[in-house]
Amino acid sequence: MIQRPISLYAICGSQRQASTSRRLLKALQLAAPHDISITISDLIGDLPIFNPDNEGEKTPPVVEKFAAEIGSADGLIVSCPEYAHGIPGGFKNALDWLVSRDEIPFKPLMFAHASHRGDLALALLTDVLQTMSLRIVDEAFLRLPIAGKPDEAQASILTQAREDGVLRAALGRFADAIRETA
Ligand SMILES: Cc1cc2nc3c(=O)[nH]c(=O)nc-3n(C[C@H](O)[C@H](O)[C@H](O)COP(=O)(O)O)c2cc1C
Repeated sequence: MIQRPISLYAICGSQRQASTSRRLLKALQLAAPHDISITISDLIGDLPIFNPDNEGEKTPPVVEKFAAEIGSADGLIVSCPEYAHGIPGGFKNALDWLVSRDEIPFKPLMFAHASHRGDLALALLTDVLQTMSLRIVDEAFLRLPIAGKPDEAQASILTQAREDGVLRAALGRFADAIRETA
């Protein structure tokens, strides 16, 4: 059966050059089947600090671009570390720009978590994202603990997960949940 293609927009909560969160997103991108495309956002670091005075007609072009990319995606993948028991400021700032907009409500979202830690951030993110009316697809939750490991160990874990079909399976569950409600 031919399935409707799914386009996903992946957002990384870390700006670090060697981010393990982004590495996990890249692994998902490589492992995605032909009918699932993943674009990894590179806009979060360019967003100005949120100010409600600059919404509506005054919305900065980069925010409009970010929101449009989210709006045109079938679902979001979020990979975000924990900083000081919280959500990294840059990532929360990006979410704040989206709170009052139309692109976000009911948008399906899956977490791809790259650490064995960070459960507080996951819980906080869940609360924030649900408050913003995103639909978190729990059955697609993916955790691959590569954070804090040497580069080669990270590569080995990601290769194994790819070969075992773990990455593809999580994406498949997410795509199924999106298609079921489309
Ligand atoms: C400033 C800072 C604060 C952190 N605070 C926490 C924390 O409170 N809890 C935790 O589990 N990890 C914490 N970490 C560890 C990061 O969550 C971890 O290094 C994560 O893998 C970084 O993601 P990245 O590789 O995508 O940059 C912190 C890291 C930094 C740089």
